[in-house]
This record gives sequence, C-alpha cells and structure tokens, in this order.
Amino acid sequence: MSNRFTTQCTLFVSLLTTSILYGQVIPIETQQNALVLQTDASKRVGISYFGPRLQQTAEYGSIIKESRQQDENAGIYNSAYTPSGSWSLCEPAIRITHADGNTSLELQYQSHQTQKQDDNVSLTTVVLKDPAYAVEVTLYYKTYAKENVVEQWSTIRNQEKGTIILHKYASANLYFVGKQFHLTHYHGGWAHEMNPEETQLKAGILSLDSKLGTRANLFQPPTFMLSFDKPASEEEGKVLLGTLGWSGNFKIDFETDTYNNLRLIAGINPHASEYPLTAGQEFKTPSFIYTYSDHGKGEASRNLHRWARKYRILDGEGSRLTLLNNWEATYFDFNEQKLTGLFADGKKLGVDLFLLDDGWFANKYPRNGDNAGLGDWKENVKKLPHGIGYLVKEAQKAGVKFGIWVEPEMVNPKSELYEKHPEWVIKQPARPEHYFRNQLVLDLSNPKVQDFVFGVLDDLFTKNPDLAFIKWDCNAVIYNAHSEYLKSTKQAESKLYVDYVLGLYKVLERVRAKYPKVPMMLCSGGGGRVDYEALKYFTEFWPSDNTDPLERIFMQWEYSYFYPTIAHCDHVTDWGKQPLKYRTDVAMMGKMGYDIVVSKLDEKDLQFSQQSVATYRSISDVVWHGDLYRMVNPRENDFASLMFVNGDKSRSVWFNYMVSSRFGAGSGRAVPLKGLDPKKKYALKEINLYPGTQSKITKEAVYTGDFLMTAGFNPAVNLNRTSVIIELTEVK
Ligand code: DGJ
Repeated sequence: MSNRFTTQCTLFVSLLTTSILYGQVIPIETQQNALVLQTDASKRVGISYFGPRLQQTAEYGSIIKESRQQDENAGIYNSAYTPSGSWSLCEPAIRITHADGNTSLELQYQSHQTQKQDDNVSLTTVVLKDPAYAVEVTLYYKTYAKENVVEQWSTIRNQEKGTIILHKYASANLYFVGKQFHLTHYHGGWAHEMNPEETQLKAGILSLDSKLGTRANLFQPPTFMLSFDKPASEEEGKVLLGTLGWSGNFKIDFETDTYNNLRLIAGINPHASEYPLTAGQEFKTPSFIYTYSDHGKGEASRNLHRWARKYRILDGEGSRLTLLNNWEATYFDFNEQKLTGLFADGKKLGVDLFLLDDGWFANKYPRNGDNAGLGDWKENVKKLPHGIGYLVKEAQKAGVKFGIWVEPEMVNPKSELYEKHPEWVIKQPARPEHYFRNQLVLDLSNPKVQDFVFGVLDDLFTKNPDLAFIKWDCNAVIYNAHSEYLKSTKQAESKLYVDYVLGLYKVLERVRAKYPKVPMMLCSGGGGRVDYEALKYFTEFWPSDNTDPLERIFMQWEYSYFYPTIAHCDHVTDWGKQPLKYRTDVAMMGKMGYDIVVSKLDEKDLQFSQQSVATYRSISDVVWHGDLYRMVNPRENDFASLMFVNGDKSRSVWFNYMVSSRFGAGSGRAVPLKGLDPKKKYALKEINLYPGTQSKITKEAVYTGDFLMTAGFNPAVNLNRTSVIIELTEVK
C-alpha cells in the first residue's frame, strides 16, 4: 500500500472548499476489499471509500470527487476518528479533557506506514496529532488478505505535562456511503440468547451496548451484520459482519447522517468509564474486527471462521475433546463413589474426558448449593476426602481424562474468602449488597486479586499436572461498581470497568504463559462471555444454558455467523421433549459433549449414544475445520439444513432438523447443496441412524456435485424422520 498524491486530485482540490481538499491517499486493502483514508486541506483524515478493491490503486484518489462528499458539510461526517469539542458536532470517536481542563480536540495527519508482517498479514498505522495540545492518536488497521478480515484499534498517547481524561475512546470509526443500511443485531437473556432483529437504519443513532461489567453479552452481544442497499441473503448482497473483541462493557453506534450515509463507532462503552491518562501514558483500545463480502452472509461468515481458526481462537485449527459433564446429572449432589461411577460411564459412552462441574470445593461453608462456598477453592473433604488428585487418577484408570470447573472471579458472601478479604469484593460501602446468583464479583483491578485468581488455576495445575480441561465460569455481573483498591491507591474509581477486563486479561496471559495448551471452555451461565479477545485464551465457549435442541438449532444458527463450529460447545442433555437421536444430531453440528445420566439410558439409547460418539469422531475433522454452508433457514421453513465441506471438497457432512410439527411439514422437495466441486462425484450415506431404523436414502445414491448443487437432493426430513445427517464422500 503506497502513499499517493495524484496531480489530478491536486487540480481538482483547488476548485473546492478547504474542508474537502485532498492530500494523502491511504488504501487499506484485503484480497477483495478496500478501505481508503484520505486527508483534506486541514490535514484531517477522512474515509473516502469502503467496498470492493479497485484494480488500479492510483484510482482510489479520484473516488472522493465523484461522490457527494464534495458538499460543504460532508467533510464533517466521514472522519476516520472523529474528535470532539472542535469542528465536529456529530457522534465522536474520542472525547477528552486536557490537563488544563480544556475539552477540545483536533486530530491532524502526521504520518502513516504499512508493514507487511507476512504474505497475508499487513499492519497500517496512521499517526494523528492535535496541533494545539500534546495528544497523539494512532489508528491501526491490521489486514488479513485472504480472509478479507480487518482488525482495527487505536492508541491514545498523553504527551502533555499533566493527566488527561478520556471520556470516549473508540476502537474504530468507519463511514459507509450507500442508499440503505439494514442492521441485524441480537437480543435475549438467560436461556434465550441470540435472537436476531433486522432493522433498516433511519435518521438518528442506533446504539448496541452493554453495561454488565464482567461480560459483553447477556442481553445484547457486540456481534452484528450490516447489509448495504438491501438485506443480504446467504449468497447475495453486500454485507459486513462485525464484532468487538472486549470482554466487558461495549458500545457500537450506528449514526445515519444527513446524506443517509452511515457512521459506525465501536469501542469500550464510555458509560461511567472516564479513564485518566497520566503524563506519558498510552491507552490501547480493544480490536474491532470485521469482514465484508459482496456475496452474502455465507461467504462473509466463512471468511470470519477461517480467520478465527487460523489467527484468533486458541488452537483454532487443532482438535477438541468430547466430554461427559456431570452438572445436569448430579448438580451439587455427588461424592467420590458417584463420580468414579460416572468416569466408568464416560468410558462406556466413549468420550475423551470427564468434566467435574460446580460443587467440589469449600469446607466451612460447603458448596452444596449456589449460595455458599464460592471463593474457597479447597476440595470439600466430605465429598472428596482424597482430593482432586485421586479423581484424576481414578478417571485415568477408567480410561478417560479429567477436567474441572472453576469460577475464580466470584465470591459468595457466605465464604471464608469474603470473611478474610471483604476489600477484594466489588460493592458500594454505603449501600446494601446486591447479588446476582447469590454472589459478588472480585475486584480484578487489584493486582492481589489477580494473583489470587491466577493462583486458583496454578494451584490446581501444580497439584494435578494431568488435569486435561478447565471450564471457566462467570455467573455474575457487576452491580454497585466500586473498587476499594482503586480508592485506596488514589486512582479514579471510574477506571473499574476497564481495569476489571484488563486485570482478567493479565491473569489469562499468566495462565497461558505457564499452561499454553490445556483446553479451556469460556462459560458464563449462558451465552454471555464469548468475544474474540477472550478466545485468544480459550479453545471453546458455552453458547447458552438452554440445551433444548429445538431452541439450540436457532441459537447455533445465529452464533454460526460469527464463530466457527470448533469453538461452540453443544451438549446432549435432558432439556426438551425431542428424542435422543434429535438431541444428539443437534449437538453434533457443534463441538459435541454430554450432560446426561448415562446409567439411565436404556440398552438401545446407550448403543445409539456409543455409536454417535464414534460417528462424531469420524466426521469431526469436517465439522471442526470445514466450511459451513447454510441452505434452509429454520426461521423461514419447516426445517433447517446446513452442511460442512472439507478443504479439498472430497467430504461433506449435511445436517437437517425439523423445527415444525405441523401436518405435512418436511422437505417437500430437493435441497440444492452448496460448496461441493461440480465435477466430483459424491456418494451419499445417511449416518447416525437410531438402532433398528432404516435410511430412506438408497445405498446407490451417487451424484455429481453439479447435480447436487443444481437439482439438489431431498434429505427426506419429515415428522417421522425429524433429524437426518448425511455424509457425502467423493467417489473416484
Ligand atoms: C452455569 C453453567 O452454565 C452451567 O453449565 C454450570 O456450570 C453452572 N453454572 C454451575 O454452577
């Protein structure tokens, strides 16, 4: 990417008002797309273009003169990082108070450079400075060319002599020129996460945000889809998929300007989060991550998946462990004998790992329910007299690995930890405590609390080096935000929301420095805590406590736009009224696990489950690493249909699920498949049949990819066959 200053441009510039004169043209390109920054005569950096990449880089400089951004007022809307208190009166990306109390900010272009990190990854940095005050902002644009993904963040440096206050400090500020914008965002709550809402953006500002403190999502995640001109479908339309990598309060503003163009500002939520920067200090904002496609949501999400597996999720291109979790099988009611029985059940089922959930710790206030013991991370001697070490060995003897649940950021008031360290707890000293699931949040802005939380994990691993899995839970939000630590160290209390998350990342850095590989599940009493910063440290996440398979089809469908299958844990449980086959088939389209009482399965169900674990193992490579294609949307049809195709298109796994039970519902006609090689021939075989049932698919079903993608194939999913999985294998 080069700096260009075209003669053409310069000539044109002289004809225009000063606010729209051009100088530096900074194209930021991926294989298919470009974001172009351009300076004006006041050295402000604006966005002159966002869309498909042009063949001639030199022509980027001419784009702005062809748009109505030439209008007198347009120059105020397209800023690449809108300051506050000076020339712009629209929603700012940054708002600060200088050391002398002044609240104005201007940002002028200083320099930029692009560094190629390898064949695929480049980093463009653009340095901006306030001409009147010693404040410097650097904009970062990291591009992943093949995946068409951009990761964008900023740093704000205080070079003044005293402390400045950051009031708003966004990660990204984008500008889109278009006729219409349609936003798909999500809402929900515990056990009903990821409900999509599509709305056409009209004049004014629509903001997505959360103020929960310990997590981004419970009611609203930071993930969204933005369609340009008309709502995009799976295969058609211009669409941007975006999200913020931040495990706390976020805010994403969509502001439609007077030209009906769209301003996007994404970052940490400025709500109650004024952040002082002392002289010489720098603040780095979290990453805003997005991908843009001209070919619909399907392509955009596959690009995001590829990026996430390769560059972001811990061990994203590796493998995962199937597991048996005891939460819904025992809740808090277990002992060594019961657990060793469950290890044997895990082995019988054929899974890789047994996961011991909540309830294994605390003695003075035993963890026999969710109202006591949280924070006291010593084995409960009544339940587990021989400790975790004994369980790890017993599990290994039974032939399964052993994993364990922790929730190290939280505390029950009824705990020894609370008695010993009330100053570690986030609460307002002058107000009654307010609980979320009977618990409070530890103050991770405090380095001593960070040591404690790291110590919980470190202690478990040091004593039990064979521990093979961690489920890291987080079941409370921050009420009564106040930090004794920040107060006693004379720091601004308004730093708490940000420093909590930064404290969490410091702990996770330490955990991963010492234990780089152990798989860890990010859990939050439902789909609360998944984001692309946390996933640097975690191998997978728990999308929802709701494991009713019917509900899960809808949820998993929506999650699948933003997160690849290898990352979402989908368990077979007793939720829902559907048969075991249906429950299992739904879990199989994700990272499968079990949370059932194996000993209660009758002979056929057990046989089916054993076969399912084996089948899952045989298809997991395609499901975890393949490309996902969605064919039939359950929100618009009687059934859902989606498929995964491996890299060389020689194997595919196709999932179909009924979501209606109305008379005659089902796949009345063929479903055209996607993502196959038209020239290859594929044999189709129904897999994961319940013992004693016959497939409707004849053994001779062999078709070309061309036939399957054009004419299609009928999976014969209906009220008698409510879920159907078909494997396609290339025939040579
Ligand atoms: C909430 C999680 O989502 C459940 O799976 C379970 O681990 C409980 N917490 C344990 O308290």
